[in-house]
Amino acid sequence: MKISVIGCGYLGAVHAASMVELGHEVVGIDVDQPKVEALQQATPPFYEPGFEALLGRALASGRLRFSTDVRDAAGSIVHFLCVGTPQKRGEYAADMRYVEAAVESLVQVLAPGDLVVGKSTVPVGTAARLAELVTGKVPGAMLAWNPEFLREGYAVADTLHPDRLVYGLPADPEGETARALLDEVYAPIVSAGTPQVITDYATAEMVKTAANSFLATKISFINAMAELCEATGADVKQLADAIGHDDRIGRKFLNAGLGFGGGCLPKDIRAFMARAGELGADQALTFLREVDNINMRRRIRMVELAREVCDGSLLGKRVAVLGAAFKPESDDIRDSPALNVAAQLQLQGAVVLVTDPAALDNSRREWPHLDFAETPEEAADRADAVLLLTEWPQYLELDPVAFGRVVRKKRVLDGRNALSRTTWEGAGWTYRALGRRGT
Ligand code: UGA
Repeated sequence: MKISVIGCGYLGAVHAASMVELGHEVVGIDVDQPKVEALQQATPPFYEPGFEALLGRALASGRLRFSTDVRDAAGSIVHFLCVGTPQKRGEYAADMRYVEAAVESLVQVLAPGDLVVGKSTVPVGTAARLAELVTGKVPGAMLAWNPEFLREGYAVADTLHPDRLVYGLPADPEGETARALLDEVYAPIVSAGTPQVITDYATAEMVKTAANSFLATKISFINAMAELCEATGADVKQLADAIGHDDRIGRKFLNAGLGFGGGCLPKDIRAFMARAGELGADQALTFLREVDNINMRRRIRMVELAREVCDGSLLGKRVAVLGAAFKPESDDIRDSPALNVAAQLQLQGAVVLVTDPAALDNSRREWPHLDFAETPEEAADRADAVLLLTEWPQYLELDPVAFGRVVRKKRVLDGRNALSRTTWEGAGWTYRALGRRGT
């Protein structure tokens, strides 16, 4: 099938190459010329495990190309909308300008029978509005909403083997046609028995924001428990293990620590609240404000803990920050808790050196006032405290004995509750973590 993918960021680029893997002929469109050139040369413009190989295979097949010209989408039958919906500056609402621009340009090249498939995370009500625009401009064209649940770091596997397919469809007979087209696009995934949920537009849009809100709530729940553990001397990690054994609760997404960041959860819960307000249903989501507050308080607590460990003052103290990406296996630094903490420490007088295996280039560009080091050892040179803020596997494997030789004071703050406390303490380190007693 001939497919176009509009927007080639983390979501769109992986989607485009994955659709080739499923057997289709794909053109990826993006307004960012350097990004398009990089993709066309099989160079991923971002770090995502497995993506380089997938992209290379897709390009070598001759069934994938990238372009900055939306006219290259003409002739495709299915058009995926994968552009970003970031938070508006100074507001909670989502900035819809990229979605609007993409649809405005796409309708110029659509033909009757074409299907536009929204994948971007959008405020509920968007699909209905865009469907009117699409069918108004191109009678016979259709629109479906097919939210994407991929996680950065696992984007390739999540796209090729999703745990469910959600189709938000128009009323029949278009709905039936759109469903058949989507089933054809995802044929190998459908025949693997992947659960399908067929809904109207509003439900499909809400599935995505509800899922991300639930995940954010789960993280903030355990972080609220961490605050209580700090007040009572209880241990949040044991608490999470114990409640996680109840399979109604589950252990996943109960890792207490510095909380959530990235380009999705923070802005999605805010956009959801903003949209609920517009719909007169803001009370239903006031709890998300608390979820957001708990999350942001963790960053402040981390800075306080660093100060406590550094004998009550950060002034002139050398602090090593391990991790800049918002999570491991990604170079994405959007709303990164680690960089946020690093900047606060620096503002309060600490001499901060940040390191990361994948996100240094992005960090240097976006946070030019921070100082960076290539390796953990360089970052920790004569450090008064070492902060683990993104739990990259290579940091979890550090040898605390050897690492202890580069620092001035053997003090480690585990912002992700991911290090082995006994190993580090055994090597003579003072170990502190959010939600757990100090030694
Ligand atoms: C999230 C969702 O998990 C995806 O399902 C969704 O498709 C995606 O947003 C999106 O909307 O596009 P992602 O932002 O890649 O995916 O990252 P997550 O794995 O959800 O992690 C989000 C943040 O939560 C990270 O900063 C992570 O460190 C933090 N986290 C996660 C915790 O603090 N504790 C946990 O137990 C789990």
